[in-house]
Amino acid sequence: MCSGGFAKCLGITLIPLAILCILCNILLFFPGGVPASSNDNITEEVWYFGGILGSGVLMIFPALVFLGLKNNDCCGCCGNESCGKRFAMFTSIIFAGVGLVGALYSTIISAAAINRGPLCATDTASNATFFYPFQNGDYLSNHTLWDECQQPERIVPWHLTLFSLLLIMGLVQAALCGFQAINGLIGTICGDCCGCCGSDGAV
Ligand SMILES: *[C@@H]1O[C@H](CO)[C@@H](O)[C@H](O)[C@H]1NC(C)=O
Repeated sequence: MCSGGFAKCLGITLIPLAILCILCNILLFFPGGVPASSNDNITEEVWYFGGILGSGVLMIFPALVFLGLKNNDCCGCCGNESCGKRFAMFTSIIFAGVGLVGALYSTIISAAAINRGPLCATDTASNATFFYPFQNGDYLSNHTLWDECQQPERIVPWHLTLFSLLLIMGLVQAALCGFQAINGLIGTICGDCCGCCGSDGAV
């Protein structure tokens, strides 16, 4: 199989993941699904833009580069162009590294946010003080504690679901970029067209 074709599959997978991560991060700016009463009442980790920057914008560049690796017909690469193809595969290693950093950033932020729990108020008064009522993820194993968060409504499942999605998608993105780093290394060493020349008959 051509390593460029494999890269294209990765690129196609990374784009919807990046869009979903951006969406999750945007939804987190609306605690419980409604606009926050004040920017100070939004959980701090949301402002680190793990999903928008790390798993989103930083992932778009590697995804586009991986997609572009297949633009030239694979079987036409056995002539002089193979040098260019090898360089493209080499470049993809660097972009895979960029994607890996972005995905890991988002994953670490999400893990920290899940552990700390959401920013919320323990009463429904409009002047209520917002703080972090949970410690070290204690709310994860004890649903009774969720009642401590009175406002915003449904903030605990909202926080937990969206940051869990960001965590899982970040890990998938990191794995895909890691695969592409190895794939790019193979492509750089072997050339992109392993196996294609034979079927084409060209040398
Ligand atoms: C859950 O938290 C509540 C409130 O702090 C506490 O009374 C209860 O014992 C806890 N349950 C467990 C299983 O730890």
